Amino acid sequence: MADKMNGLKRTHYCNDVRMDCVGQTVVVAGFVQKRRDLGNLAFLDLRDRTGIVQLAFDDASDRTVFDKATTCRAEFVLMAKGTVRERESKNPDLPTGDIEIFVDDLRVLSEAEVPPFEITDNTNVNEELRLKYRYLDLRRGEMQQSLFMRHKITKAARDYYDENGFIEIETPILIKSSPEGARDYLVPSRVHPGKFFALPQSPQQYKQLTMLAGFDRYMQIARCFRDEDLRADRQPEFTQIDLEMSFVDVDDVIEVNEGFVQYVFKKILDVDVQLPLRRIRYEEAMNRFGSDKPDTRFGLELTDLSDLLRNTEFKVFAGALETGSVRAINVKGGADKLSRKEIDKLVEFVKTYKAKGLAYTRWTADKATSSFEKFLSEEEVTALRARMNAEPGDVILVVADPSNAVVFDSLGALRCHLADKLGLIEDNSYDLLWVTDFPLFEYDEEEGRYAAKHHPFTAVADEDADKLLSDPVHCHAKAYDLILNGCELGGGSIRINDPEMQSKMFKALGFTEEQAQEQFGFLINAFKYGAPPHGGMAYGLDRLVMLMLGKPSIRDVIAFPKVQNASELMTQCPAEVDPKQLEELFIETVEKK
Ligand code: AMO
Ligand code: AMP
Repeated sequence: MADKMNGLKRTHYCNDVRMDCVGQTVVVAGFVQKRRDLGNLAFLDLRDRTGIVQLAFDDASDRTVFDKATTCRAEFVLMAKGTVRERESKNPDLPTGDIEIFVDDLRVLSEAEVPPFEITDNTNVNEELRLKYRYLDLRRGEMQQSLFMRHKITKAARDYYDENGFIEIETPILIKSSPEGARDYLVPSRVHPGKFFALPQSPQQYKQLTMLAGFDRYMQIARCFRDEDLRADRQPEFTQIDLEMSFVDVDDVIEVNEGFVQYVFKKILDVDVQLPLRRIRYEEAMNRFGSDKPDTRFGLELTDLSDLLRNTEFKVFAGALETGSVRAINVKGGADKLSRKEIDKLVEFVKTYKAKGLAYTRWTADKATSSFEKFLSEEEVTALRARMNAEPGDVILVVADPSNAVVFDSLGALRCHLADKLGLIEDNSYDLLWVTDFPLFEYDEEEGRYAAKHHPFTAVADEDADKLLSDPVHCHAKAYDLILNGCELGGGSIRINDPEMQSKMFKALGFTEEQAQEQFGFLINAFKYGAPPHGGMAYGLDRLVMLMLGKPSIRDVIAFPKVQNASELMTQCPAEVDPKQLEELFIETVEKK
């Protein structure tokens, strides 16, 4: 039978019991971290969310209290009242290591079975087990710390935007499915058989409507749901710091949000972020870094060799140049670090990004070994080496492909891979920048049509407005992404507020008038009744916390995350449901073929 609290009240958190409490009677509560028995002495380390304090029992203890203490095991839940005394042998590793509590009233409030793993910081327990028993995993100081920091970052966001005139407005979770973006999670309606709600991928349309409603500045800590493949920085449900503002253009949105970045880094990490942040146009980001979320903490920039090889007889390059390009990276001084065998591994690496090969020149002090120079003319080799600024000690890595996207993707990933491998990234550095002037459209291979790169409400750059229908491929968007250490931290745009422009946009996307009305009718209509110019953005809160805390995965900063296959190991969902529930929803399931 467990003891009861019976009115006993905690006076201190464990970590707050210090030398200035010596002689006082205190009451603490928490979990047993460990017990030590030394014959007529016994010690319990008691842990709560603040830290650990030592409970002491000895000859002078009441016998029943002493005996009870020696039955306690790890993770028992206790309350203890006692007198604080200075320790004889102090523990310099523990913040409370100068004192202990000599206990006269010990309550075992809950016993605990032996947990499946020890609750300790530097654990090597595999993540699957940790996620299955997440409530135990979350007891670990490291996890508690992460969630405390997450709370503080979230609060800093609310404070900052509040101070800047934004108000938090909740938007619905059950909404209408929309054809743009990732796949929706659907929720069947019982009241309307055969009809479905979707869970929001973001509050995009609603937040725009708050602008049309005249709220001027909106923000929300918003849950979002996207049925897409998971990665270390992606979850099917995640949280955005979402905001929208009226009567603004690109610079205004950027200014307010840079202010937030500076505020949150100072407040949480005491790091000074210099403003304004760097801005780099999308095209430059792609050309130099092969990515629209460039990590600029290291070099290894891309160099375009296409013009030098226009007339080459080497089939691989000539073939690529018809529609694509040949680009390369110079790994300065890499010949020492990258053996032939290592380079072979890099070839395999770029293949996972659909590159068909990786040509190389490895120039050691004695000689240059190359997989491709023999296929080029002498002039071409000379020009290429000069363009690459190549000298003995360097390794040149080349990708040629008929698709520019493949060249950028593979070299973009390769430079990050190399930076990691060669230790080129300084720890605890924060590389923040904006990528601006995105293309308005991108080709969707799956759908075989142009799709909005951002979303269909994004405004076209003023100088491109008249070629929206005649030359969509070359239109730029008033869109911007915020990048931190090569990760897309946030993104947004100025929106279309002119109904005529919006219908042109739908036309460019291949929607008929009817389709546009059916999908977005309410929004199109809303714009007819007065629409302030507006724009905004959203940060991935999970990503922000992950990067600020230097964690490798967003799972480390989410209390109850999902795993790679989009399931949750603790509650084991998704799960089958009672056939009666399906019946009520008029749903039948079929076997997967
Ligand atoms: P976007 O789709 O770029 O924009 O999302 C904004 C930010 O949300 C984060 N994010 C994710 N984080 C974790 N898991 C995911 N699956 C995931 N997907 C996105 C990223 C990203 O930068 N409504 C627009 C914003 C706007 O235009 O105002 C939007 O949702 O950090
Ligand atoms: P091959 O003529 O296919 O034997 O290729 C000669 C060299 O060019 C080899 O080192 C290949 O790895 C390299 N190579 C082949 N395809 C590509 C490509 N798409 N991009 C860069 N190098 C390539």
